[in-house]
Amino acid sequence: MGKQVVLTGMRTTGALHLGHYVGALKQWLEIQQTGQYECYFLLADIQALTTHADNPSALRQSVKDVTLDWLAVGLDPRLKNVHFVLQSQVPERAELSILLDMIATNAEVLDNPTLKAELQDLQVRKTASSGFMRYPVDQVADIHMVDPMEAGSTLLVPVGADQESHLELARDIARRFNRVYSPTKAVLTPCRTLVGDIGRLVGTDGDAKMSKSKGNTIDLRDDADTVARKIKGMAAGPNRGANEPGKPDENPVFIYLRAFDPDQIGLADLEQQYRERGVPNSALKGRLTTVLNDFLDPSRARRRELAGTDISQILVDGSDAAREACTPVITTVKEAMAVSLPYKF
Ligand code: TRP
Repeated sequence: MGKQVVLTGMRTTGALHLGHYVGALKQWLEIQQTGQYECYFLLADIQALTTHADNPSALRQSVKDVTLDWLAVGLDPRLKNVHFVLQSQVPERAELSILLDMIATNAEVLDNPTLKAELQDLQVRKTASSGFMRYPVDQVADIHMVDPMEAGSTLLVPVGADQESHLELARDIARRFNRVYSPTKAVLTPCRTLVGDIGRLVGTDGDAKMSKSKGNTIDLRDDADTVARKIKGMAAGPNRGANEPGKPDENPVFIYLRAFDPDQIGLADLEQQYRERGVPNSALKGRLTTVLNDFLDPSRARRRELAGTDISQILVDGSDAAREACTPVITTVKEAMAVSLPYKF
């Protein structure tokens, strides 16, 4: 009864870090592992262009970096149900995007809380490209390009909490489309959000968000020494003597340990010790260094095996799969909106 489709993606604006893992990749891997979904993982290079159109060679490099990072963490397009889709290589998606633009209202796009928040930044407001102003609708096209269009189907979109408003827009547009063009039988499938339990990771400087522009990341491709060095310089909460009690919640090192330490019971003991009689930061950081390097080691091994892999072929195959899925969608949408031939007289 129906199909189970997953679509999700990332903008290709640089190599990925632990924040991407905690906020997205971890969940994508779990979904892939179930084997129950047709999974489309989108490398959003067009969306990257909405803000990064000035540096084509960096964009190309980012697509390569993201692809390698995805493969290194274990996303596996060799599986029949897993596709890496390069957004720019699905022309049907762009066509869908233009058509959905006509049923989205300008007001609802401008009211989109995520877009609004991004436009709070004066620099962004001044320099935002015209494409940036319509990216929420473009993202709706991303989701619906693989719409199963079949009763009883699921279109699942696993994302960080910051993307929730985009998915609400997608549902609004899908429902509107159905109401206007196909009131008796739903065509588009309103998507379902899947938000993970830990949506974001603090930066190594203690800032609320790990982000490349802030220089506070630990990258998936960092080697063991780099990880050790970054942790050494990491923020560890309010100043505290080595044996002075502290609050784990205020110490970013604990936040990381909670996200990555496989021994959560041992960690709970350590937190109690920290609260009652203090634990030196050097000990916590030593533990974190081991934990993160153990976590990254399998990715490092996979990355070494990947040398020489034909990344382009992976992206061509994945994009072709998305084109195939999108063909019936765009045909149906065009017919419904009366922009198709032949005309029947
Ligand atoms: N906006 C998402 C991000 O910044 C990337 C993205 C593009 C996406 N298209 C999507 C996410 C479709 C989910 C579904 O990370």
